Amino acid sequence: MRISVIGCGYLGAVHAACMAKLGHEVVGIDLDERKIRELSAGRAPFFEPELEELLLDVQGTGRLKFSSDISEASDASVHFICVGTPQKKGENAADLRFVDAAVNSLLPHISAHDVVVGKSTVPVGTAARLAEVVTNHEPEAHLVWNPEFLREGHAVSDTLHPDRFVYGVADGSEDHPAVAILDSLYAVPLSEGTPRLVADLPTAELVKTAANSFLATKISFINAMAELCEAAGADVTRLADAIGLDDRIGRKFLQAGIGFGGGCLPKDIRAFMARAGELGADQALTFLREVDAINMRRRTRVVELTRELCGDGLLGKRITVLGAAFKPESDDVRDSPALSIAAQLQLQGAVVTVTDPKAIDNAAKRFPELQYDHDTESALANAHAVLLLTEWKEYRDLDPHYLRNIVSSPRVLDGRNVLDAAKWRAAGWHYRGLGRP
Ligand code: UDX
Repeated sequence: MRISVIGCGYLGAVHAACMAKLGHEVVGIDLDERKIRELSAGRAPFFEPELEELLLDVQGTGRLKFSSDISEASDASVHFICVGTPQKKGENAADLRFVDAAVNSLLPHISAHDVVVGKSTVPVGTAARLAEVVTNHEPEAHLVWNPEFLREGHAVSDTLHPDRFVYGVADGSEDHPAVAILDSLYAVPLSEGTPRLVADLPTAELVKTAANSFLATKISFINAMAELCEAAGADVTRLADAIGLDDRIGRKFLQAGIGFGGGCLPKDIRAFMARAGELGADQALTFLREVDAINMRRRTRVVELTRELCGDGLLGKRITVLGAAFKPESDDVRDSPALSIAAQLQLQGAVVTVTDPKAIDNAAKRFPELQYDHDTESALANAHAVLLLTEWKEYRDLDPHYLRNIVSSPRVLDGRNVLDAAKWRAAGWHYRGLGRP
């Protein structure tokens, strides 16, 4: 099938490459000329495991091209909307400017029977509004909502082998003509047994925000337990292991630490609350305010703990922060808890050096006042305290015996509870986890 993908960020670039891998003819479209140049040369404009190999692989087939010219979408019959929906400045609500602009710019290039497929995360009600925009322009075209659940760092495998497909169509029926079109688009993963659910438009939109809210709630739940464990002298990691063995609960997303960040969970729960308010259902989501508050408290707690760890205040203390990305295997620093903590420590008089295997360039653009070092060992040299804030494998594997001789004082704060506390203590370190004795 001939496909256009509007928006080539973390979602769209991966989606375009994966659709070409599945055998379709794809054009990826973005206004950002730099992105288009990079992608056309087979280079990923951001770090995402497996993406660059995939780009080179499919570009060899001639099925994938990138352009900044929206008229290239005219040849396609399925158009994916993959642009961002960031948080509005000074408000909780989502900013839909890019989604609206993408659909409006696409209109002149839509023909009868084309399908416009929304993938961006939008407030419930957006799809019905956009469906009207599309059918007012071309009554024989369809707009459907097909939310994307990919995780950064696993985006390629999540797109090629998703755990489910959700198709939101106007009448919520299996017989809607767009259902068969999406089925043939996704024929390969469907043949591998991926479940697919057909729903009406608002349900499909809500599936995405509900899923992200649930994940955020799970993380804040375990972080609330971490607060309690600290007060009671208990260990939240053992607690999570034990409750996680109940398969109604499950151990995934029960990793207590500095909390969630990134371009999705924080802004999605806020946009969800804002939308619930507009719909007169704000009471239903007041718990998400608490989820957000618990999450933000983690950052302040780490600053306090670092002050305690340093003994006599933060002023002039050399602190090394391991990790700047919001999670490992990503260079994304949007709402990164690690960077937010690093910046707060710096503001309180510490001298903070941040290192990260992939995210330093992005971090330096956001927080130019921090010091950065690409080399882990030199970043750690003479540190008064070390904070592990993003759990990259290379940081989890650090040798505490060796490092002890590099730092000025062997004090470590394990912001993700991933280090072996006994091993670090045995090597002479003063170890602090979060929610652990
Ligand atoms: C999330 C959803 O998982 C994905 O389905 C959706 O499509 C987009 O939003 P992503 O933002 O890539 O994906 O990251 P995710 O793996 O969900 O992690 C989000 C944040 O939560 C990270 O900062 C991570 O460090 C943190 N986290 C995750 C925890 O603090 N504890 C956990 O147990 C799990």
